[in-house]
Amino acid sequence: MATFIPFILYSVVFSTCFSVISSKFSEQSPITMKDMEKKTSLHFYFHDIPGGKNQTSTAIARPINMTAASKSFGITFMADDMLREGPEPTSKLVGRAQGIYGFASQQNAVLLMVMNFAFVDGIYNGSSLSILGRNAVFDNVREMPVVGGSGVFRLARGYALAKTFSFNLYTGVAVVEYNVSVVHF
Ligand SMILES: *[C@@H]1O[C@H](CO)[C@@H](O)[C@H](O)[C@H]1NC(C)=O
Ligand SMILES: *[C@@H]1O[C@H](CO)[C@@H](O)[C@H](O)[C@H]1NC(C)=O
Ligand SMILES: *[C@@H]1O[C@H](CO)[C@@H](O)[C@H](O)[C@H]1NC(C)=O
Ligand SMILES: *[C@@H]1O[C@H](CO)[C@@H](O)[C@H](O)[C@H]1NC(C)=O
Repeated sequence: MATFIPFILYSVVFSTCFSVISSKFSEQSPITMKDMEKKTSLHFYFHDIPGGKNQTSTAIARPINMTAASKSFGITFMADDMLREGPEPTSKLVGRAQGIYGFASQQNAVLLMVMNFAFVDGIYNGSSLSILGRNAVFDNVREMPVVGGSGVFRLARGYALAKTFSFNLYTGVAVVEYNVSVVHF
């Protein structure tokens, strides 16, 4: 009988420890050398086709009763755009830009960009970067923050520089060059 007491005590202590660990709310640990941060630079072209045969984005909302200096204020698009190696529509696909952009200025063509860049090429296949930024589309170069990432881009932070390569005023087709710099683990 007496031999069972240590066993019972052991299992009580052990199970108590176990239940504490399994319900742990938080834990802090130092960042170690093996978690060295890496810097990655990406260069690609964003192809947005808001209408026509190979359409990749569509208006999903329009203001009901707003009179702003900018006629486009409030118009919002959902996009599943191609990210390609080059500016040609036949250039190699490296990812897709999936998300929302909307006209957020009452005066000018300024977009709110809420986008995930989902990559499909090489070691980046399945990884993504999240962009949340202000895009004054008629500025020569626009800078947008990269607020996070997944896969190889876990814990990413950085910035994207965007420059219009071509814009067709009649079809709305835009090709935009992107340089993205991120730091990640
Ligand atoms: C649509 O895409 C196809 C296949 O890539 C291409 O042959 C065609 O020229 C494109 N059409 C337009 C209007 O861009
Ligand atoms: C839009 O504005 C007009 C004129 O001010 C008004 O008569 C109408 O009720 C408004 N419609 C909505 C949906 O707010
Ligand atoms: C990317 O990954 C998907 C899913 O694992 C796979 O089907 C696809 O062939 C891969 N693409 C490339 C270009 O490696
Ligand atoms: C991207 O980087 C290349 C090479 O440094 C440069 O020629 C190009 O102008 C840059 N474009 C943008 C949008 O920053």
